[in-house]
Amino acid sequence: MKLRTLDELTSLKGKRVLLRADFNVPVTRGKVSADEDWRIRKVVPTIERLRKAGARVVVATHLGRPEGKKVASFKTDPLAKRLSELLHAPVVKIADCVGEAAEDATRALGNGHVAMLENLRFKKGEEANDPAFSEALSRLGDVFVNEAFGTCHRAAASIVGVTRHLPSYAGPLLVSEVEALSRVMDAPESPYVVVMGGSKVSDKIGIISQMLSAADRVLLGGALIAPFFKAQSHCIGLTPCTDEDLEAARELMKHPYYKKLILPHDVVIADSKDPRTAQVVDLQEEPFDLCRDHESILDIGPKTITAYAGYIRTAKTIVWNGPLGLFEVPKFSHGTLAIGRLIAARSKGKTFGVAGGGETAVALTRTGLADCIDHLSTGGGAMLEFLEGAMLPGLQPLRIDE
Ligand code: 3PG
Repeated sequence: MKLRTLDELTSLKGKRVLLRADFNVPVTRGKVSADEDWRIRKVVPTIERLRKAGARVVVATHLGRPEGKKVASFKTDPLAKRLSELLHAPVVKIADCVGEAAEDATRALGNGHVAMLENLRFKKGEEANDPAFSEALSRLGDVFVNEAFGTCHRAAASIVGVTRHLPSYAGPLLVSEVEALSRVMDAPESPYVVVMGGSKVSDKIGIISQMLSAADRVLLGGALIAPFFKAQSHCIGLTPCTDEDLEAARELMKHPYYKKLILPHDVVIADSKDPRTAQVVDLQEEPFDLCRDHESILDIGPKTITAYAGYIRTAKTIVWNGPLGLFEVPKFSHGTLAIGRLIAARSKGKTFGVAGGGETAVALTRTGLADCIDHLSTGGGAMLEFLEGAMLPGLQPLRIDE
């Protein structure tokens, strides 16, 4: 897929560039922590490039899901502060994301200066892709650059509508996302191994089906495994699993390539997520007594790590999305960190490794090996939808017909 890129622009001097970024990162007590700012870091080189070219950069992002209301904890001030620290330059925080005052503030910027708008999702028009909101937003720039791959699966005003009003381009980060994921989609070298975990079970069941057709092995972990175990009559205790997930797992069990799906041989369980009660349960030894009612599955076990390592070691293409356990708690982080290290170590060599999703990126950052992976996608849902073969609404307006 070919996209219109920034390279087509000969002069940006004095132009206001409306830069749609995806700075949807965790904010804790009004701060973005250093191991969770990866989505901001990834856009820094683009902003530097625009500044160097003399552009006036107006950064627009959403944060959280405030559903059209102004919510104090979702204000973009902590993002502007973190961006300013990373750029070693001031970032002007604009109090609104549209309107006359915001427009004046963008016009008052000097060449090479940077501003950040208030959360786009404080306005209902953003998610509704409202034409009036798109038009109002477009008044804040002379050129639009999309660097928000993580939001390209949303047909929002700042992703789709705005492109009807401004000359629109894909930023270098967006281009690198599309190139890396297209390589996996179009010509994955075999053995192709997919590792999937995380908690958005109902979101991922569809892509698992797709991956069972495209890949050689799909290794599962995290809360994704619970519906499969439940469908096999295991007691999964308090591990999250909705009726919808259970139904989807039953459907997948009828998939012609279901044999490619690998479930853990052993898991770590605990009572009320209390690390002091952690114990390994071997499914081959205790097939129907996986958990008691008050326990939950919190990590993959050591035998599973060894088995998954075997698949990863021989893979030529690896895609990873989602942690394999409750990795925020050290006792339940071993599976995720071990598999993350292995994937990173195999990448940039004979294996092409791609990882994506907010929690996956944080886990990789904690291994200290995030730079070793060939491509760390800033997309979670967007990456999965792309790999499912969907044309993302945000990419469509930037496409050049081939
Ligand atoms: C993400 O974090 O995946 C993107 O920022 C999109 O957020 P959303 O799922 O709230 O639309």
